[in-house]
Amino acid sequence: MNVHDSEKILGVLETEGFIRTDNPRFADLIIFNTCSIRQKAEQKFYSELGRIKSYKKINPHLKIAVAGCIAQQEGKKIFKRARHVDFIFGPQNIMALKHFAAEGHVPVAVEENPLIAIEDLPARRSAGISAWVTIMYGCNNFCSYCVVPYTRGRERSRPSEHIVAEVSKIAKEGYREVTLLGQNVNSYESDVDFPGLLRKLDGVGGIERIRFVTSHPKDLSTDLINAIKELPKVCEHIHLPLQSGSTAILKMMNRRYSFEDYIEKISALRDKIPNISITSDIIAGFPGETDEDHRLTLKALREIEFDGTFAFKFSPRPGTKAATIHENLTEEMKSERLYEILALQDTITEKKNKAIEGAIQEVLIEGSSENGNGNLTGRTRTNKIVDIRANEIVKGTLVDVEITKGKKHSLQGKLVG
Ligand code: 5AD
Ligand code: SF4
Repeated sequence: MNVHDSEKILGVLETEGFIRTDNPRFADLIIFNTCSIRQKAEQKFYSELGRIKSYKKINPHLKIAVAGCIAQQEGKKIFKRARHVDFIFGPQNIMALKHFAAEGHVPVAVEENPLIAIEDLPARRSAGISAWVTIMYGCNNFCSYCVVPYTRGRERSRPSEHIVAEVSKIAKEGYREVTLLGQNVNSYESDVDFPGLLRKLDGVGGIERIRFVTSHPKDLSTDLINAIKELPKVCEHIHLPLQSGSTAILKMMNRRYSFEDYIEKISALRDKIPNISITSDIIAGFPGETDEDHRLTLKALREIEFDGTFAFKFSPRPGTKAATIHENLTEEMKSERLYEILALQDTITEKKNKAIEGAIQEVLIEGSSENGNGNLTGRTRTNKIVDIRANEIVKGTLVDVEITKGKKHSLQGKLVG
């Protein structure tokens, strides 16, 4: 979501006549688009911000702006901490960038923006075959550990016709895959609900694949499962953050589902779409998490067998409810738990990747392999990366590939026919 916000920032600047440079030393404007989901991201930002101060000595016209969730959270306090910052704008106020250069304009924009869903900011996407499209902003869920509802504000859905128009436009520009973005896409609501939106988008010519992130388990409906099954372009992959395998911890997280509810959703998905890949997010060491709670999370991973997970150590975020709960675990204990989760998931991912050796999968070619081995790289419909021994195929083509090897983090394959 943040990377796509950066594309919108670039889009707005481009309409204002700015030209992008790859070298910050040549820049007249440097914008930090920050993330505050966990503390580590915040620390990285402050050290980068300090490092860039000397650039103002080289170029006295240089302006420095701070955008994103740290900007939203800290507001004008950032000026106190770093006097070399000129503008501050939050994720709901990218449009404000248009006015900052104007004489006498207030250099801070962190208001809640009720019009965000109809703003239609221009995005400058990097060239490729896959594009992000925002379908909704904000979040109303207030999971107790999460800063997003505070920084990104209330849920607001874009009108479906605006989304269809944007997807049609990017299809004409050559993109073949679209990933719909929202903190909780299952609560999308305009003239249609989320499955209704998928049905509309499935009809857009030129687009071959539709993906979406993120789904909240409590809002995953039968109608959505049917839409994934029935709509040819909607890929068989869902990112469904579990966060913890312990119902007691889920309650403290304010997730509003029990582990049993979650398992029911997984069964419903797998019953209807047997080949669906399911990925998840896990938080290790939430305040109050006992050895038994942690054991339940490991048990959940073994039982569900996700295709992949992102796991994070709990990080107290200012202003959230969980930040006020006493932390019973040391940093080392949290790290240990995280390591156990990651190591277990690695073995499961590898096992799942090995299980599809010999299978034929449809792959969308994205470009040259990052391994620098001259191969091509692409993704299966289930969002697994495949390294393919071939080099003449054009980016954006759909090909059938036989999976020859399943590895921990990727697959190898060869063209069929
Ligand atoms: N600490 C650790 N992980 C967090 N996440 C969100 N907030 C926190 C936090 N305070 C994780 C959740 C979410 C993912 C995007 O980031 O797992 O699903
Ligand atoms: Fe954060 Fe929960 Fe909203 Fe996701 S659903 S953005 S974890 S508050």
